[in-house]
Amino acid sequence: MIEASRIAHSIGITLDRFIKNNQDQFQFASGELSQILRDIALASKVVNREVNKAGLIDIMGPIGTSNMGGESQQKLDILANIRFTRALTKGGEVCALISEETESYVDLNNEGKYVIAIDPLDGSSNIDVNVSIGTIFSVYRRKTPVGMAITERDILQKGSDQVASGYILYGSSTLLVYTTGHGVNGFTYESTLGEYFLSHPNMEIPEDGKMYSINEGLSNSFSEGVKQYLNYCKTNNYSARYIGSLVADFHRNLLKGGIYIYPATTQHVHGKLRLTYECNALAFLIEQAGGKATDGLTRILDIEPKDLHQRTPFLVGSMKMVEKAEQLLNTT
Ligand code: AHG
Ligand code: MN
Ligand code: MN
Repeated sequence: MIEASRIAHSIGITLDRFIKNNQDQFQFASGELSQILRDIALASKVVNREVNKAGLIDIMGPIGTSNMGGESQQKLDILANIRFTRALTKGGEVCALISEETESYVDLNNEGKYVIAIDPLDGSSNIDVNVSIGTIFSVYRRKTPVGMAITERDILQKGSDQVASGYILYGSSTLLVYTTGHGVNGFTYESTLGEYFLSHPNMEIPEDGKMYSINEGLSNSFSEGVKQYLNYCKTNNYSARYIGSLVADFHRNLLKGGIYIYPATTQHVHGKLRLTYECNALAFLIEQAGGKATDGLTRILDIEPKDLHQRTPFLVGSMKMVEKAEQLLNTT
């Protein structure tokens, strides 16, 4: 008899099934966090469709406005923000939304138990040139009891308070990678079936690597410590890889081993990347995958946020590479 597996390959486990199977790992297993993850996945499919059509319909280029960081907003930044906001506000699980694209947080005035921070579209400068872009998200528990108005305590939470985080990479294939604090798993989107399938189970970053990602064009304004580390990379024949989309650079380093650095510069004296909706999510993921994330002195997940749009220097990646960079940063 011919084995079934020789005729038809197994298509593997769907994201929905995986979330359901692992629901009992959540500290508060009421199904609400599962629903949030499903809502994010759904919105990402819509954004994926729009990203893929970007050259065909009029959704490329700047919209003519700036976000809180003073960066020009692209049409797709706004579109992605709308898609994720709609998906996350319908079910009532989320009480507040923090986004790169909105000045203040959005209080949904409901009994939702979760707060979401999101960078709806990361890598804006790459939208119009067909280079990988992404979405980054963090999920926190509400701290103020249900029934009372949410406060800054709910909004300005430390990264270590995250209950889930992840990213979607719109690349040569579309991938959703997430953690709920029990390891990291990645799912590839099969667009003809409209489903994410588990493709990268139990992701772990190599302990060491040979790739460094930094915008070296800005090196005149780097600190001596950062310059020393870059010298160290070159002396050791490391390869430079910089896409300019944090999600894409992060993902490559997660798979291959490497370090991503966005240090303080003259233009961005506190670094460019945002703690609440960029760095915390990736710091949680990298620690879950066996790597490290720091601002050079402090573990990213331990930083107490003071402002929604706060920036931080960011070093993230393979444990040994981040440790070496920290060592040079702190002795120079
Ligand atoms: P965003 O598109 O969400 O504003 O993020 C852009 C970020 C990040 O994705 C990327 O790594 C970095 O900006 C690139 O900055 P430089 O162009 O200064 O290198
Ligand atoms: Mn970003
Ligand atoms: Mn963005």
